[in-house]
Amino acid sequence: MPISPLDFKIIPPVIGHRGACAYAPENTLASFFKAKQLGVKWVELDIQMTADQELVVFHDDEISRTTNGHGRIQDHPLSYLKSLDAGSWFHPKFSGEKIPTLQEVIAFFQEQDLAVNIEIKAQSTDPKIMADKIVGMISENLKKKIFPFFISSFDTAILKQVKKANPALPIAHLADQWSDDWQEICDELDCIAFDLNYKTVTEEKVQEVLATNRLVLAYTVNDPAIAARLFSWGVSGVFSDCPDKIIAVLSS
Ligand code: G3P
Ligand code: MG
Repeated sequence: MPISPLDFKIIPPVIGHRGACAYAPENTLASFFKAKQLGVKWVELDIQMTADQELVVFHDDEISRTTNGHGRIQDHPLSYLKSLDAGSWFHPKFSGEKIPTLQEVIAFFQEQDLAVNIEIKAQSTDPKIMADKIVGMISENLKKKIFPFFISSFDTAILKQVKKANPALPIAHLADQWSDDWQEICDELDCIAFDLNYKTVTEEKVQEVLATNRLVLAYTVNDPAIAARLFSWGVSGVFSDCPDKIIAVLSS
């Protein structure tokens, strides 16, 4: 059974961005484990679909920045992607770290009691196929054990397909820039939150969103002073590469 959007009122103020990607290779199990060790309750990750329609956790369209492979995620089968080293680029001690599948990380989060923001990256593949796969996988896992989550994307076409596949799943609108149609999009998708690039956030904008009974989350905030200012404006949570630094300020 999906969790109620009301549960997001208890979303903690710090969400580990791609795990704790200042300390471990982004979007790997090592990064999510590090976030857990740092006391983080929620993590964010990015998902994409492989050429053989498997869901993997990966940020870039192209794989060469964070693996020893080349080409686009969507052009390779899972077997090839699993053969790559997704850790050495960050530090030799992470050599052998693999690109995880969405299923692997969900199982890990259920075991570790971590909550997750699943961000869907846009691809040139059919958004309906991807949305159906994601919703199917989440639903199957929820039958085994409830885990708090919400889904976001810069791509509203895919969020519409997610909503169609299961209207009860919590969704956040994600945008790099403020645009005047934000409320229309949030209303149509029944969004629980509006996630914004912190550079585009102002106190007035935060108040405008809060007035529609939605949370404002801001990315990517690594400076505790900036986080403190955003919180004072009513921002509910920030995505951070170094979540421990923000947690430290909150508890001081
Ligand atoms: O979801 C917040 C943030 O992760 C969006 O930007 O490029 O880091 O995925 P990006
Ligand atoms: Mg992301």
